[in-house]
Amino acid sequence: MVDEGWGRKAADFAAIAEPSNAREYVFVHARLELQPGQRLLDVACGSGLAVELARMWGVECAGIDASGRLIEVARDRNPECDLRVGDMNALPWADDSFDVATSFRGIWGTTPEALNDVRRVLRPGGRVAMTVWGNVSKSPGAWMFLPFLWAEEARIDNQAQMVSLGRPGVGEAFLSDGGFDPEERFVVPFAMEYADPESYARGIASVGPSYEAILNIGEAEFLDRAVALAEGHVRTGLPLRGEIELFGYIGTKR
Ligand SMILES: C[S@@+](CC[C@H](N)C(=O)[O-])C[C@H]1O[C@@H](n2cnc3c(N)ncnc32)[C@H](O)[C@@H]1O
Repeated sequence: MVDEGWGRKAADFAAIAEPSNAREYVFVHARLELQPGQRLLDVACGSGLAVELARMWGVECAGIDASGRLIEVARDRNPECDLRVGDMNALPWADDSFDVATSFRGIWGTTPEALNDVRRVLRPGGRVAMTVWGNVSKSPGAWMFLPFLWAEEARIDNQAQMVSLGRPGVGEAFLSDGGFDPEERFVVPFAMEYADPESYARGIASVGPSYEAILNIGEAEFLDRAVALAEGHVRTGLPLRGEIELFGYIGTKR
């Protein structure tokens, strides 16, 4: 099911949607002050752009994602890295294997088991950095996520639960309960850019929550509606741009 949602348009996701996330990845890697030789695990690594950028710090990278088709792209980009298809709630690495773990919108409030397992594979004093959505609906780029609401009601409720970690104090408590000393929440730059309404529609159609909308209204209808939505936001000579509030947390394993 995860691979159907996230992997069915893996090339579109990797080449059209994911490049916008580079701001987030570069920012968090710099905040972690990655050091050459450190061992890093990227949890829910998707198609591996974050791993590719982390490698530029001289870091030894591993990653895991439940989508086999996204991992295929990640391996193509990072042939030397240990990239596995699997469940972040049962990480297939030994205790104390990593100095640093990252999770870019991968570990959610609904997945405490994943944080426990990250703790297990980190060495004592190792750090986890995770990003979580803030107030999406109040963000200037909120319109870009409107297509997710074209899913059935029950699926939308689940999406809302998954963003609870962005609320003040919730993420810190989540890390603390998971055996980490959390630092204060920080703002992470996040903006999506698309050249035109058609590329926006194709890019947004490639992400997991859109799959739930596509199941509800069909792909052709989804794409038509997404193009019409974006046409209302075209700015002559500029890309479509949507900034979304995103927060980061860093916790140190006790
Ligand atoms: C919001 S995306 C983030 C992906 C990537 N970190 C990025 O920045 O693009 C969520 C990712 O979690 C993966 N995923 C969902 N459930 C998972 C699980 N139980 N174990 C591992 N990966 C999972 C999906 O396949 C998807 O790639």
